[in-house]
Amino acid sequence: MIASDGPLPFERFMEIALYDPDGGFFAGTDLRSQKAGDFLTSPEVSPLFGETLARFVAGERDRIGGPFNLVEVAAGSGSLLRSLLAVEPFDSWAVEVSPPARHALADLLGTDRVVASMDDVVTPLRGVILANELIDNLPMAVAQMTGEGWKERWVGAGDDGLVFVDADPRDEVAAWLDAYAGTVEQGSWVEVQLEAGNWVTSTLGRLDQGCLVVIDYGDTAENLAPRRRDGTLRTYRSHHLGPHPLDEPGATDITADVNFTALVDVARQAGADVSLRRQDDFLAQHGLRERISELRHRELELARSGEEMERLRVRTLRADAETLMHPRGLGDFRVMVARIDGNASPSRDVEEI
Ligand SMILES: C[S@@+](CC[C@H](N)C(=O)[O-])C[C@H]1O[C@@H](n2cnc3c(N)ncnc32)[C@H](O)[C@@H]1O
Repeated sequence: MIASDGPLPFERFMEIALYDPDGGFFAGTDLRSQKAGDFLTSPEVSPLFGETLARFVAGERDRIGGPFNLVEVAAGSGSLLRSLLAVEPFDSWAVEVSPPARHALADLLGTDRVVASMDDVVTPLRGVILANELIDNLPMAVAQMTGEGWKERWVGAGDDGLVFVDADPRDEVAAWLDAYAGTVEQGSWVEVQLEAGNWVTSTLGRLDQGCLVVIDYGDTAENLAPRRRDGTLRTYRSHHLGPHPLDEPGATDITADVNFTALVDVARQAGADVSLRRQDDFLAQHGLRERISELRHRELELARSGEEMERLRVRTLRADAETLMHPRGLGDFRVMVARIDGNASPSRDVEEI
């Protein structure tokens, strides 16, 4: 395409590299989110992530009543739904673009509840829509602040492979940069997450009543500012940082930190009441600290009674749950809850970060 039509916006390149049915990273035969895959997510680290979210989902169900559905978008291997539904069997759907992930999810929910697009989920929709580590994979543009102002970085062909080339920012990119890039120095890189905003708007548009929960790495525009010198665009492969995003397209996960200020804004514009918290605070608010201390007590009891195998099992469960709360690791993720109805928590929660 580049040879015949010229350079592509980075977001188009990212869309092809991740999602092309013929060679995209998420289209192949490998299941990406699991211990043997490319990334370990919160539900893959500990079943207590799903168990804790089950308490949140039950609270929402009690608040809005029935009919009530749970939808997980980007459900991956099903690790979150499996642990969540073990607590309470909510009427659930999974949305996944990856064929091997859909296959794994069908074992859990049945084929009619596992779909490739939100278009195929039940309507009208009342309930909770969860998306853990989806938004960071949605195609984004990239821009760099130069001596002549913002330049978009498109993808062109060089002598030795793909290279970034300059382009004047498209109007929508320039408008997003004005609103969410913050004050940056010359040379700074910013990922322009228009598609993430479109996804939040269209997903909230499908909710009659209930909430959308977006969990991901990222921060407010202001807190992301110190990381702008090199930007946050990166790749992962086999649990490690991978090569430059333009190298080996289709063979690496391309991702960047989510700009939650932009997401909170679009969710509010869609009529939602929005809260934004750290993952450690959100999980603590829904009982994970108490659960961890219960496990610690159990470990002591088992040590006293000499049940060593069981003590080790409980210890692993407790240590994995603590990983979900690590303040510089998974605990530092953000949880955005966007509610479509009048009873939401007040928006001032955003300022607490
Ligand atoms: C990092 S994994 C997270 C999987 C799971 N949520 C978890 O926490 O383990 C990202 C997943 O999102 C899926 N995905 C990416 N873009 C998607 C989209 N637009 N709609 C549905 N699923 C998508 C991928 O196939 C992949 O399984």
